[in-house]
Amino acid sequence: MSELRPETDEDWWEVEALYDLCFAPGREALSSYRLRDGVPPVRGLSLVARDDDGILAGAIRYWPVQVAGRRALLLGPVAVHPTRQGEGLGGWLIRESLVLAAAQGWDRVLLVGDEPYYGRFGFRRLTGIEMPPPTNPARVLGLELKPGAWDKITGKVERGA
Ligand SMILES: CC(C)(COP(=O)(O)OP(=O)(O)OC[C@H]1O[C@@H](n2cnc3c(N)ncnc32)[C@H](O)[C@@H]1OP(=O)(O)O)[C@@H](O)C(=O)NCCC(=O)NCCS
Repeated sequence: MSELRPETDEDWWEVEALYDLCFAPGREALSSYRLRDGVPPVRGLSLVARDDDGILAGAIRYWPVQVAGRRALLLGPVAVHPTRQGEGLGGWLIRESLVLAAAQGWDRVLLVGDEPYYGRFGFRRLTGIEMPPPTNPARVLGLELKPGAWDKITGKVERGA
């Protein structure tokens, strides 16, 4: 069994090590990281999954961003340790954090990722939303936590406060 808890400062480097393990080298060169530079992740939504022995099995982080002056959540990175993948932990981290995000009053979420995976959580391709280049537009996906929250919103994604 694992449990989900909000990430704390003490978890930070362990989560970084998990991301280094799960993503290709140079992950911080990805354009989405330009939106994270110098901005802390959103407290209470960034979660860690640990097993009964306290071993880190998965983690998800969120950053605040702005699109056309409207605030949004940037989901990611999310990763599950290779020995624990396929058990539903990734889905649990995503679903649980999205419920918390709605409860915190967030209206909209975006991410850069695979639609075949994120589609199962309701994410759909966003048009007219520009991530820092180079980003494949087909991988820019959004989810509405309030109906219509992405309607008529277009423009560049910028760092949040
Ligand atoms: C993506 C990731 C977080 C999923 O975590 P997980 O705990 O294995 O996911 P779950 O157990 O909830 O779901 C597994 C399902 O997702 C599918 N899946 C995983 N990655 C996928 C992808 N990139 N595209 C399509 N489907 C994917 C699996 O095939 C499996 O499908 P099934 O339910 O039909 O069997 C994990 O595989 C991971 O850490 N990958 C490396 C880092 C990464 O790519 N993160 C996402 C960045 S966009």
